[in-house]
Amino acid sequence: SLLVPSVQELAKQSITQVPDRYLVPKQDTLIIPKTSSFLQVPIIDLNKLLSEDAFELHKLDHACKEWRFFQLINHGVDPSLIESVKLGFQDFFNLPIEEKKKLWQKPGDIEGFGQLFVVSEKQKLEWADLFIINTLPSYARDLNLFLNIPQPFRDNLDSYSLQLGKLFMAIIGHMEMALKTKPNELLKLFEDVSQSMRLNYYPPCPQPENVIGLKPHSDAGSLTILLQANEVDGLQIRKDGMWMPITPVSNAFIINVGDILEILTNGIYRSIEHRVTINSQKERISIAAFHKPQMNKIISPIESLVISERPALFRGISVADYYKKYFSRQLQEKSVLNDV
Ligand code: SIN
Ligand code: FE2
Repeated sequence: SLLVPSVQELAKQSITQVPDRYLVPKQDTLIIPKTSSFLQVPIIDLNKLLSEDAFELHKLDHACKEWRFFQLINHGVDPSLIESVKLGFQDFFNLPIEEKKKLWQKPGDIEGFGQLFVVSEKQKLEWADLFIINTLPSYARDLNLFLNIPQPFRDNLDSYSLQLGKLFMAIIGHMEMALKTKPNELLKLFEDVSQSMRLNYYPPCPQPENVIGLKPHSDAGSLTILLQANEVDGLQIRKDGMWMPITPVSNAFIINVGDILEILTNGIYRSIEHRVTINSQKERISIAAFHKPQMNKIISPIESLVISERPALFRGISVADYYKKYFSRQLQEKSVLNDV
């Protein structure tokens, strides 16, 4: 990415007029009202999956096919660790800007504080500061960056990333059962899973209709496990051509299918577009954990899911090449997937 300023610092200056670089056309606001009770994102219970509840497995399958998005409860990640991570997040983003500058992206970097997909000085920027870091496998960490995260947040983030990595494998294991693949056919691709995290900080904005927190996009990875770290809404998913706001249920993770899982499942589980909107009053914070196979793996539809009635929808590409394509464009809906 190119170097970008801190939106958090900008928002502190109690501006009334947002700089041009952040002004985007009014977002399409065709929104499904929160009150439509028949439209609820599925809530999946990991405890039930682990006790081989067949109905829950069916629910998971349905969620991944019809919604491509669900919330996961009883996920087994230590609640006190989650609390520490949330608190640590606040302190981390509230560090003096001079300290944060040491962790800022340099031109061309992905990791560090900054934004993604910034390819031109002229393009519009998002109303958010991000902190991006590779977390698993631990030997792939950039120690220069990792060891500069203050304690105890660094250790908490480390434990959190390990627990999420295990949770990810558990979910993929159940997806295999739901999809009736050969044992390990999906799981083996995620040996030594590559995980990265993005800490998202969205300050309030005096012109919320004219900025966007995150532009509409699908995630490149396989499954994103999102922790909404405070009570402020903003995440919306594209549902039947409209935008549907997501309010997290308590103690749940928000999980969505990404492009790579769409390729691997031969389009049976498809990635989903989502975006983040901003409000004028409150900051919003969240942590997204992305999971992908190692960079040198080739991803193509897995054998069991290519049948005569459903020929392979994708040719296959290395993970590295997929990411190269994904990052070399401005974020734009699902345009990258169409080339594979
Ligand atoms: C995303 O990672 O696209 C959504 C992040 C968020 O809900 O803040
Ligand atoms: Fe996303």
